[in-house]
Amino acid sequence: MTRPYVILNAAMTLDGKIATAAGDSRISCEADLDRVHELRASVDAVVVGVGTVLADNPSLTVRRARGESPTRIVIDSYAKTPLDARVLDNSAPTIIASTRSAPKRRLQELRAAGAKIIVAGEKEVNLRGLLEKLRSLGVRKLLLEGGSTLNWSMLKEGLVDEVRVTVAPRIVGGATAKTLVGGAGFGEVRKGVGLELVRVVKVGRDLLLTYRVKGGKGAKKTG
Ligand SMILES: NC(=O)c1ccc[n+]([C@@H]2O[C@H](COP(=O)([O-])OP(=O)(O)OC[C@H]3O[C@@H](n4cnc5c(N)ncnc54)[C@H](OP(=O)(O)O)[C@@H]3O)[C@@H](O)[C@H]2O)c1
Repeated sequence: MTRPYVILNAAMTLDGKIATAAGDSRISCEADLDRVHELRASVDAVVVGVGTVLADNPSLTVRRARGESPTRIVIDSYAKTPLDARVLDNSAPTIIASTRSAPKRRLQELRAAGAKIIVAGEKEVNLRGLLEKLRSLGVRKLLLEGGSTLNWSMLKEGLVDEVRVTVAPRIVGGATAKTLVGGAGFGEVRKGVGLELVRVVKVGRDLLLTYRVKGGKGAKKTG
């Protein structure tokens, strides 16, 4: 079964944090925010974990660039997305990807708030199954906008094809601050996800690094 082409995009500090320990995730400079909105306008859908919805309440729409807002997708096993979350406003379609463990009533409330519900998995969202379903619904290009836990699952399952990371010239520290990729992690460096650096550009005061994931779609077959 085919799945969409997946681009992971994130902004991190030089020490790899995507938010401070206190939860501040305003890392990108103005020029980088413009770039992210242009990127959103170029994809069919954008996906985040429910942790990001609860922490940042993002709207995930295109406001700083021309073009249409993509479909917004929240990975939310237990349907915890608040009914007043910005992702549920009527500025773009929204899909809540949930599981058979989610309370039926919550799913009904989210449906009544305008979201389409896709049930994939028992206790956590079956990401591969979901991506295949999304592809069958016409999603060819999918933007993954975090957070740390969802980035880990997507990378571990081999569902990411390209990584674009903005490195801001800040160091914030904090042992509990979320990093670009969380989860259990790999025990050995050689087992980590292999990347090939394809582009380095300065965006405003930040540095944008673009990598192709080895073995991903669009990767060279050798190496
Ligand atoms: N700087 C940036 O570019 C950027 C971008 C985005 C987010 N952030 C930051 O990232 C932080 C949020 O990250 P987070 O790690 O707490 O949350 P997250 O990755 O946004 O969401 C993770 C949640 O998704 C749900 N989920 C369901 N199925 C899953 C699966 N198969 N794999 C992984 N997750 C699954 C789980 O909750 P359930 O069990 O309830 O379903 C899980 O706890 C915030 O501090 C935010 O500010 C930064």
